[in-house]
Parts: sequence; structure tokens; C-alpha cells
Amino acid sequence: MKPSFRLFVLLATVKSYAYAAQNQDGDVFDPLSYVNLFIGTVNGGHTFPGATIPHGMVKVGMDTDSPGNHAGYDGDPQYNVTGFSQLHQEGTGGAVPLSNFKLFPILNCTVFEQCLTTIASRKIPRKFLPNGSPDDFASPGYFSTNLSNAIRVELTATRRVALHRYTFPPESVTPRILLDVTNDGQVSGINPEMAIDPETGRMIASGNYAASFGPGRYDAYACVDFKGEGYHFDAPIEYGPYKINYPDLWGTDINQHYYSWGSEHGGLVGFPSNSDNGNKPTSILARVGVSLISTEQACANAEEEIPDWNFDRVVKDSEDQWRDILSRVKVDTDNVDRNTTELLYSSLYRTHLLPADFTGENPGWKSSEPYYDGFYCNWDTYRTLFPLMSLHDPATFARIVRGMIDIQKHEGWLPECREMGTKQFIEGGSNGDPILSEFYVKFDKQAKELGVHAEDLYEALLADAEKTPKNWNIQGRQADVWKEKGYIPSDTTYRGGANTKQVSRSLEYAFDDFTISQVARLLGKTSDAHKYARRAANFVNSWNPDVVVPDTPGIIGFMQPKFANGTWNYTDPRHCSVHDPLQATCFLNAIRRDGFYESSPIVYSQYVPQDTARLIELQGGVDKFVERLDWIFENDYFDSTNEPSQQIPFMYHYANQPGRSAQRARQTIAASFNTSINGLPGNDDSGSMASYVFFYLAGMYPLPATRQTLLSAPYFPSISIHNPVLATTVTIKSNNFTGNPVDGTSGNIYVKSVTVNGKPYKSNCYLEWDVFTETSTVVLELTDTANVTCGTGKDALPPSLSTGGYD
Ligand SMILES: *[C@@H]1O[C@H](CO)[C@@H](O)[C@H](O)[C@H]1NC(C)=O
Ligand SMILES: *[C@@H]1O[C@H](CO)[C@@H](O)[C@H](O)[C@H]1NC(C)=O
Ligand SMILES: *[C@@H]1O[C@H](CO)[C@@H](O)[C@H](O)[C@H]1NC(C)=O
Ligand SMILES: *[C@@H]1O[C@H](CO)[C@@H](O)[C@H](O)[C@H]1NC(C)=O
Ligand SMILES: *[C@@H]1O[C@H](CO)[C@@H](O)[C@H](O)[C@H]1NC(C)=O
Ligand SMILES: *[C@@H]1O[C@H](CO)[C@@H](O)[C@H](O)[C@H]1NC(C)=O
Ligand SMILES: *[C@@H]1O[C@H](CO)[C@@H](O)[C@H](O)[C@H]1NC(C)=O
Ligand SMILES: *[C@@H]1O[C@H](CO)[C@@H](O)[C@H](O)[C@H]1NC(C)=O
Ligand SMILES: *[C@@H]1O[C@H](CO)[C@@H](O)[C@H](O)[C@H]1NC(C)=O
Repeated sequence: MKPSFRLFVLLATVKSYAYAAQNQDGDVFDPLSYVNLFIGTVNGGHTFPGATIPHGMVKVGMDTDSPGNHAGYDGDPQYNVTGFSQLHQEGTGGAVPLSNFKLFPILNCTVFEQCLTTIASRKIPRKFLPNGSPDDFASPGYFSTNLSNAIRVELTATRRVALHRYTFPPESVTPRILLDVTNDGQVSGINPEMAIDPETGRMIASGNYAASFGPGRYDAYACVDFKGEGYHFDAPIEYGPYKINYPDLWGTDINQHYYSWGSEHGGLVGFPSNSDNGNKPTSILARVGVSLISTEQACANAEEEIPDWNFDRVVKDSEDQWRDILSRVKVDTDNVDRNTTELLYSSLYRTHLLPADFTGENPGWKSSEPYYDGFYCNWDTYRTLFPLMSLHDPATFARIVRGMIDIQKHEGWLPECREMGTKQFIEGGSNGDPILSEFYVKFDKQAKELGVHAEDLYEALLADAEKTPKNWNIQGRQADVWKEKGYIPSDTTYRGGANTKQVSRSLEYAFDDFTISQVARLLGKTSDAHKYARRAANFVNSWNPDVVVPDTPGIIGFMQPKFANGTWNYTDPRHCSVHDPLQATCFLNAIRRDGFYESSPIVYSQYVPQDTARLIELQGGVDKFVERLDWIFENDYFDSTNEPSQQIPFMYHYANQPGRSAQRARQTIAASFNTSINGLPGNDDSGSMASYVFFYLAGMYPLPATRQTLLSAPYFPSISIHNPVLATTVTIKSNNFTGNPVDGTSGNIYVKSVTVNGKPYKSNCYLEWDVFTETSTVVLELTDTANVTCGTGKDALPPSLSTGGYD
């Protein structure tokens, strides 16, 4: 029985077209009920399960003392609670980011001056449920926990303001709340300021903190107000700043009474309890405005965004915004288990956390353009996160692109990794390029109406491609060397600098240039288009046709480091893989001259999305190419934890064996991505892994900055994606869908033929963007025989640069 997706408009006070779908049994399909925020909260996923709106600047959540507390929280209940802070990233590696301005409720210290305020002495165990899990709950826009001392904490947020609700048990004589100014995630806070207004209890605070993935520090500001809920107080009955474990009763300023020792600073306020009033619990609201500009602005943000102190209203507004986004994707769940639907919507949710909308909070310059921050990093997100945004949220995409162009105008280059206005270490090339190009290749016709000026966008791309910054570790690329040689030489002395990641950067630069050629073509800049297409072909300069993996003589030729004089250096192709005899790493902190970042040469030797046809030639033809793909999977060289591997399962498409892609892609999901708290194999990377999982479940893999998307069978008999800017809905339906085999290798999961709007389609292996620019129905005929093909026509195989595919 097919549920009918009858739509109805919720009684929404908002402009959005928030809706839910109802099936024949009358159950309302609310995508929010399928969002599990705890996926990836252990095992290094570093996902953020707190409260935020889509792309909200404020991400308010619980902080724990876990070593993996990059997003504050840890799903393992053994870790104790250190506070509830206002800012977090999502899925990042590097040092622990943000986690600024923790609030912490203190149940019952007898005397104000003796309250223990340091993070080590105040932290508290969580409450365990009978099954051993922590008593924590989260849904889009809301988080709650019960601490082991029976204090209940609830959190919600608007864009720049957090609202906390602390409910103390009736026996709490003087409920107190602490504001920690110095303990961000790295305990890096210096120059703390904190002042308390005795009349109102308002605390204003600021500090200077370390960025987490590179050089630079940033200032942040907060403004905290309190209000009794269900009862009234005018002001706190006790207040004062604290330094380490010494609160100073009736002090009003952190700088007043202390001589300079100790590094933990903050403020503490105590309130009358509501317990006289019939032994009721005491609920206190704390409203925290945040700013990167000033405490005045932090207070103004708080007053503007939450003037009414209405916790439920803030939750509902947030839910409405999330529902608006998530309802753009609809699925028929017949024959699909709940976990798969949960994985889909939870993944979609996590693609809307970063970058974050810091408009009005740019510490660098004043501008009327939007300002987004929290690019962590474009190397991670360009592959799948932004192509997913193209499908269902181009309006947000356009604002992010405008913000990036504005950064380029003021700083000279597009952002790559960016945190709180600081430039962080690049990972690959200038991977802002494929993001801008992805936008323009898909929305060239809508760009103007969305506020994106084509010439500015193109100039920003050219800046990355042509101008060498002084420090290309934090922006741009080594453009001069790239232009001169067509690869980045591995000689460590070559033109100085931290000469790392030479081979992977060469491959990224080539892809970046490909994306520029795509934009140039649309703009009618034909000679530029050819120039950048030629530069995109320079990936071959890093291909050493003679290198083999020790003991695997049949697989010949790998991407390798090359010296400036044209001779080769050698990096064992297994370097940085599970079979690396040296067990080396290839992250930023590794001492390395081997040329590769976060993946092995084996993986990078598959990474030429612009020209897989040429790669197949280099690897010795289709049979050798398939043999190599199989060898990669059978020997665990495929690495689901890092982005350069993401396309590999789908690469059989280019060998005209899409059935093999379906198996590999589904095996990847089955082995590494699920709905349990350890359901990610590594960092979520700002939603990069989430967007990757979404595409696989939707039966697609995108080729960024092209108008083609690789196609396979979705995990749902029907999935539709609504694009509000294009006013289109594309539905992919599968005939003969019989469910998803557990291991992904059998069953009706292979695409035998495709029709679009009733007409046979030119390929079973990819869809053109044209399919998405109108309301289309794509029908897949599924079969259980894996030997399906892309089709027989001349356009059946997905395009490649060297075969003229993108012309
Ligand atoms: C959490 O706190 C409890 C009680 O103080 C302590 O026994 C436990 O070891 C702490 N957990 C961790 C991971 O430090
Ligand atoms: C709080 O402190 C008061 C006074 O010391 C004491 O009577 C009460 O039992 C304490 N409550 C809790 C929950 O510890
Ligand atoms: C916490 O306790 C309250 C009852 O006081 C309960 O309603 C709630 O479900 C508990 N768990 C969480 C995570 O809020
Ligand atoms: C090329 O450069 C490398 C590194 O500087 C050097 O070791 C090698 O001897 C040079 N080879 C030739 C042929 O110049
Ligand atoms: C060649 O590569 C090896 C191993 O990666 C490295 O130790 C060495 O420094 C490189 N040689 C030069 C001249 O860069
Ligand atoms: C869930 O995913 C994690 C991370 O990839 C993996 O370690 C675990 O085995 C998976 N769990 C199941 C039940 O498949
Ligand atoms: C669904 O996921 C949960 C973990 O979140 C797991 O315990 C359960 O076994 C899964 N169910 C199925 C049918 O895979
Ligand atoms: C697939 O479905 C079509 C009708 O939609 C039916 O004619 C055909 O027999 C089915 N094939 C298989 C293998 O189930
Ligand atoms: C696929 O395999 C089936 C048998 O499993 C065979 O009947 C069919 O001809 C094969 N198709 C192709 C395209 O090789």
C-alpha cells in the first residue's frame, strides 16, 4: 500500500510553507520525529546534539569532560557535565573548538563564598537510566537532561541567543547559576571581563580565545539575564565574581578584588527559591545573547530575539524552521525499516548546522552582505554538502556564496577553513572554488535574483586561481608554482614555505580549475574555459605509471610526489592506509614530506572526478580499472572516514557496471553508517559525512560543479525533493522495490532502465540537472541481476573531460 502524500498546511504563523504529510492511516508524517541527534556522539563522530536553528550561530549544548568533547557532548555517560555553553561546531577534528560561556547550575552549597566554581570541582555525573544510558533528550530546537543531583536542564535557541531553563528540586535552598568566562573547549580564555548589575542580575562578559584549527584568536561577548518562571524576583539575592574556587560576595566586577593568580574566572548569582510556594521546584530562565562585536550587541541580540522569555515559543519557532527544511524531502516508507528513514532525516538535519549565519557579527569589517562563518573546512564540504544544498536549499546556498565573495573582496582570497573570523589551515586547495562553481553551474539563471553577481563570483574564483598569497597555508593556493609547473613539486626547499601535501594539493588544484572552466563556459569566456580545462588536465603530471604496491605487481601506476626537476620521489602507495608498514598518519600534525593529506596514494589515485575516462586509460583500461577498484575494497584501502574516498564506490559507473556501484555503496552504508550513537566511522566533518550518507540513501552521488549526478536505486520506493527557489519537485520512484537487503549485495536494487516523465532516458547511470529544474518524475525499473549497464546510447556513460563530456 502506497501512502498518499496528502499535504496540509500547519496552522503556521510563519511565512514558510511548513507542512507535514499524512498517510492513509491518518498518521502525520513529521520528519522531525525521524531526527536522531545522538548519532555519532561517541566514537569520534563529534556530532552536536544540542539546540539550534538551521545554520544558527548559537548552538547551545551540554559540555562534558570527555577527551572527544569537540561538540561539547559525549554520548558515553561516564563523562561528567561541566556546563552548558552557547557556541559549538559540528563533527570537527583539530583542537576542541568554541564551547564558550558555560552556564552551570549549583544545587546547594551552604555559603556563597564556599561554592566550588572551578570546572574540576563543580562538574557533576549524569543521571543514568536503568538501561545504562544517560537521561538526555534532544530533538530539533530542543535539548534536555536530568543531572544526577536532580536538576533538570532544558535548552533552546534563536540565531544569536540561547535560552536555558534550570529547574531545581524543591529542597534547593538558594538555587545558584554560574557563568564561566575562561573555560572554552581549549581552556584558552584570556583577558576575561565580567560585570554584574546588582539591580537586575545581568552579567556581561567577554574574553579572548584560541581558534581550533590553525593560528589566530578571537574575541567573544555574552550578555546573560535571568528570570523566574512561575514566580517573580527582581534581582539575585546573592552575586559576585569568582576566581578559581573563590567567589567574592557582592563584588560586581571580575577585575575588582583579586590579585592575579589562577586562570579560571566567572560570575555566580543566587536566587530566591520558589519552594515556599507549596514545595514546588524552582525554574529559572537564563537568556544568553552572544556577539563577536561587543557586549552591548550581545544584549541587544538577546532583547531583540527573545523579548518575551517564552521558552515554548522559541522551541516552536525553531521546530517550524527545521520542519520547513526537512519537509522538502519526502519518502514513501513501505518496505523500509524505520532506521533507514531515521538515518536519512538525521543526516539531512546535520547538513544544516554549518556554515553558520553570523550576519551582523563579522568582527573584520562592516558590510551589507550576509556573513557566514564556521567553514570547517571547504575541503570536506564541497564534495557532497553543497550539492545537496543545490537540490533543496539554494536560498541559503546563495547567502553563503555571497558571504564568501564578500570575504574574498576584503581579504583577497575565498575562505577555506574559517572560525570566528580567523583564517585556519587549508586542507587541500582553494576548495571555495568548487563551492562557488557548484552554485553558479546550477543557478546561473537565478543567481542575480538571489543576490549573487556573476562577475564578482568569477573574480573571486580567478583570485584563487591566479594570485599567490603570502601564506597559502591559510588561504588561496600556491598559484605561481602551479601555473609554472602544473604540479606542486615535492622538493621541501622549493620556494620555501611549509611544503606539505604536494600531491593531494596538485590534484585539488586541478579539480578547482576544472570547476572554474565550467563557470567560464557559462559566462561565455571561451578562452578562459579552455585555459582552465587544460589546467584541470594537469593531474596527469602527478601520475607515475611505474609505481607498484609491494606484493601487488598487477596494479601499476599511482599518484606520486615529483621533484621540481621532473624526477620522481617515492611514497609507498599504502602510506596512511590500514596497511601502511610505517603506520604513519597524514594529518596536519604529522611530520611528513610524503605529499598526501588524510588519505593514501591509493585513494588519491582514484581521485579525478573531472576526468575518470582518462584515469581509466592511465590505469590500463576498463578491466584493470575494475580490478583495481575490487582490490581497493577487498583489501580495506577504501576509507569511509575521509572524503577523498567518497566517490570510489560509485566509480564502477564509469566502467559501465553500475550494479557493482550499487553493491559497494550499499556495503559502505551497511558497514559504517547507522543510527546508533557510534553510527559514524569518524568525524562528521561539519555535515560532510551526513550529506554523503543522504546521497547514498537517495540513490545518488553528485559531481560538484557539474550538471550531472550519478544515479543508483534509492533506499525508498519513492523519494521526492522539493526545491523552493526553482519551485520544482523531483520524484524518483522505483518499480519492483522490495526492500533493502541487509548486506547490500542482492535483491531488487539494480537499475535496469530509467524513464523521465514517461520517456526512456539516455542513461541508467546519471541524471542531468535539467531533470531537477522542472517538476519531474523519474521512474527506475529495478531488477535483481547485478549485471545491469548504463545503457547503449552514446551518452550512456557519465561524462569526463577528456571525452568532451562537459561540452
Ligand atoms: C565522574 O564523576 C564521578 C563522581 O565524581 C567519578 O566517580 C567518575 O570517575 C567521573 N568520570 C570521569 C570519566 O572522570
Ligand atoms: C541543602 O542545604 C540545606 C542547608 O544546608 C540542607 O538542609 C538541605 O538538605 C540541602 N539539600 C540538599 C538537596 O542537599
Ligand atoms: C527528566 O525528568 C523529567 C521529570 O522531572 C522527565 O519528564 C524527563 O523525561 C526526564 N528526562 C529528560 C531527558 O528530560
Ligand atoms: C632532482 O631533484 C632531486 C631533489 O632535489 C634530487 O635528489 C635529484 O638528484 C635531482 N635529479 C636530477 C636528475 O637532477
Ligand atoms: C623523498 O621522500 C621521502 C619519503 O617520503 C622523504 O623522507 C624525503 O625527504 C624526500 N626527498 C626529498 C629530497 O624531498
Ligand atoms: C554502526 O557504525 C559504526 C561506525 O561505522 C560501526 O562501528 C558499527 O559496527 C555499526 N553498527 C552496526 C550494528 O552495524
Ligand atoms: C535500528 O538501530 C538501532 C540503534 O539505533 C539498533 O539497536 C536496531 O537493532 C536497529 N534495527 C534494525 C532493524 O536494524
Ligand atoms: C517489475 O514490475 C513490473 C511492473 O511494474 C512487472 O511487469 C515485472 O514483472 C516486475 N519484474 C520483477 C523482476 O519483479
Ligand atoms: C545478465 O545475467 C543474466 C543471468 O544472470 C543473463 O541472462 C543476462 O543476459 C545478463 N545480461 C547482460 C547484459 O550481460
